[in-house]
Amino acid sequence: MSESITITDNRTGESFEIPIQDGGVDSGQWKQNLPGLWFNDPGFTTTSSCLSSITDIKGDEGILRYRGYPIEQLAKDSTYLEVAYLLLKGELPDASQYEQWQHDITTHTYTHENFRRRFVDSFQFNAHPMGMLMASIAALGTFYPEAKDIEDPANRMLQTTRLIAKLPTLAAAGYRSSIGMPYVYPENDLDYATNFLSMMFKVAEPKYECDPAITKALDVLFILHADHEQNCSTTTARTVGSAHADPYSAVSAAAGALYGPRHGGANEAVLNMLDEIGSYDQVDDFIAGVKRGDRRLMGFGHRVYKNFDPRATIIKEAADAVFKVTGANPKLDIALKLEEAALNDEYFKSRKLYPNVDFYSGLIYQALGFPPEMFTVLFTIPRVTGWLAHYNEMMEQDSRITRPRQLYVGSDVRDYVPMASR
Ligand code: CMC
Repeated sequence: MSESITITDNRTGESFEIPIQDGGVDSGQWKQNLPGLWFNDPGFTTTSSCLSSITDIKGDEGILRYRGYPIEQLAKDSTYLEVAYLLLKGELPDASQYEQWQHDITTHTYTHENFRRRFVDSFQFNAHPMGMLMASIAALGTFYPEAKDIEDPANRMLQTTRLIAKLPTLAAAGYRSSIGMPYVYPENDLDYATNFLSMMFKVAEPKYECDPAITKALDVLFILHADHEQNCSTTTARTVGSAHADPYSAVSAAAGALYGPRHGGANEAVLNMLDEIGSYDQVDDFIAGVKRGDRRLMGFGHRVYKNFDPRATIIKEAADAVFKVTGANPKLDIALKLEEAALNDEYFKSRKLYPNVDFYSGLIYQALGFPPEMFTVLFTIPRVTGWLAHYNEMMEQDSRITRPRQLYVGSDVRDYVPMASR
């Protein structure tokens, strides 16, 4: 017998039954039986906004899977571009599909020269790279007016390829502009991660070279950040897309959500927090301040993971690999003590607060030479794939425009009072 719930309206004594499907109940039947009675769910803690086949998270068990594949296996054996293909198309590519996909990405890495000269160079010298990136993504869309033809799947795929290919170019262009260094053009014989590092850090050497352990670690970080189902920024991408805005507009808006310190901005906030703590012996005082409610422990806590964040476990391994090459980040000791103190403290235990993906990623990024302002940019580059996978899924589902209700709690009708009488 299929599962269901029965709801009784105590105002009328009438009951109705709603079947449970895919772990949820359909709001349509609720709406039909109880018109005008809205769920009040700020932050959407108990509301599913869509059906999705892309990413599966089981928060209590610390499980994260892309299209059914465990994140641990993908991080160990796959590449970011292979994972991007998987997220977008639903299946792992065979050898010729992968070769074509790599070719498509590497041949779309350049931007129009006017984009760099007229747009990127016009930012103030101290502009935050995330602000620059959000604006750059939206501006990039103006170079492709055909992007508005969102009903055509082939056209959507072309814009998807462009965005994934050009994101490292945009990110590095903003950085180089902010430090007054000449741009480095993409090099098509480099892999995705090395090409990005080259555009960021190449100076006068003929060819940028990098320890393979570093490139692998960055690629693993890209895999871990590629998607995370209906988080704040992905929900933003789907919401903007539900109005049938083009992919550049949806992705730019999503980047704005990711910028916030409660979301992707947490990796930058963690480094600032470690700087503020300053030394190993200040950790206990800092934890006491968090427990008093003075502030939050950045890089801790998650809406869905209530046991551990599987990405944080993999990131710790990636950190070890990177620090073997670069030497340990001097803030690592503070981070480890902070983690140990929090994991043994009743305040954090009772609230199920554990290190999340952002707790250690910043330490790696810093060891690789990225300034803290670039950390959220490093999150954005791979998350663009997730946003676009959801955007495309939503378009294929013919979903309705996102338009929640509200419970109005303001004044009842009242008459306008002339200013002299107030
Ligand atoms: N430090 C101290 N207390 C916390 C923290 C924290 N980082 N996170 C949650 N709490 C407390 C919170 O004060 C509340 O306590 P009480 O029940 O006494 O009021 C309880 O834990 C539940 O918190 P919540 O705010 O209801 O949890 P949420 O699911 O709405 O928020 C979160 C999730 C990630 C926004 C939050 O944990 C947070 O602000 N963490 C710090 C920022 C961070 O690291 N963000 C990155 C998230 S993972 C990557 C990503 O999604 O971008």
